[in-house]
Amino acid sequence: MSHDFEQLKETDRFIGLLREETYMHRIGVLTSGGDSPGMNAAVMAVAKAARYHGMSLIGIKRGYNGTLCKSHHIEDDMLELDLDTILDIADQPGTYLRTARCLEFHRPEMRVHAVNNIREMGIEGIVVIGGDGSYRGAQALARHGINTIGVPGTIDLDIACTDYTIGFDTAVNTAMDAIDKVKDTSSSHERCSIIEVMGRHAGYIALWCGISTGAEDILLPEKYDYDEQKIVDHIINNRRIGKSHHMIVNAEGIGHSTSMAKRIEAATGVETRATILGYMQRGGSPTCKDRYYASIMGAYAADILVAGKSNRVVCYRDGKFVDMDIEEALGMQKDISDYEYQIAWNIR
Ligand code: F6P
Repeated sequence: MSHDFEQLKETDRFIGLLREETYMHRIGVLTSGGDSPGMNAAVMAVAKAARYHGMSLIGIKRGYNGTLCKSHHIEDDMLELDLDTILDIADQPGTYLRTARCLEFHRPEMRVHAVNNIREMGIEGIVVIGGDGSYRGAQALARHGINTIGVPGTIDLDIACTDYTIGFDTAVNTAMDAIDKVKDTSSSHERCSIIEVMGRHAGYIALWCGISTGAEDILLPEKYDYDEQKIVDHIINNRRIGKSHHMIVNAEGIGHSTSMAKRIEAATGVETRATILGYMQRGGSPTCKDRYYASIMGAYAADILVAGKSNRVVCYRDGKFVDMDIEEALGMQKDISDYEYQIAWNIR
């Protein structure tokens, strides 16, 4: 693993100057969209960077809601973080700053309102930790002259510009453990099990958990042909050769696991159960990988913000931490690699 040294050299140069004469005195940080394990480590890294640069840090609460200042007390929306407290949260699940999906922020007049509040609080730049939707909010603020840097925080791994998103590693490990356990009882009862995992429209969690648990079928929205007969034939064939269980990992983007289980049981005569793992995949203490990568990304975001960059996102690409224009990042497409998908079929 290495950083993009050209970019970091440039950042270091700026930091050298800025330590002498920092032009930012106060920055903000928010977490937005679905929470993901490791968000706190990223916030902590932003806090460390703020302390290094001699700046104060405002924690903006509940995603973009906090910028709209709807609460009675300003501290309920934007509060100055005690850097000593915040330096102790890397291991904490969830997000200390709370999070939300803020639909109001799509309205142009609410964005203007947010910009005014941000300026009134003296916030000169914001690190936004979240997914694609959160990046759009960051882009809107940047268009209004607020410096913003995005950090990829989502368990779904569905942000095209980056090979890593904060929380994915913890989520797949949580889901993998759960699938292993369901497999134990499925074998005992000689059942077929359909386990539905999260991922919104993307199949990364399903692919990783399916391969790592040796699932008999892995259904991904990007690849599934909706031919249930193939699954039925596969189950019947596996029964013939004496397999005691049949595990199907189904992505949320396909869904309908309960009705699928009923249809499969009727067609195969094999007892079939559906388990929808749901929100447990977003919980738990982050893995070392999530804490580590989140820390690097949070620090990187604060450093380039202080160095004067805006409307950028931090990414992990080809083994390096780099940054990229938000517009460019949002225009990119991501797909499951055919080779990796082929492996999912080969292990059947
Ligand atoms: O983006 C993370 C995620 O957990 C998705 O996998 C899921 O589709 C969605 O959030 C659920 O969102 P909510 O918490 O709003 O129900």
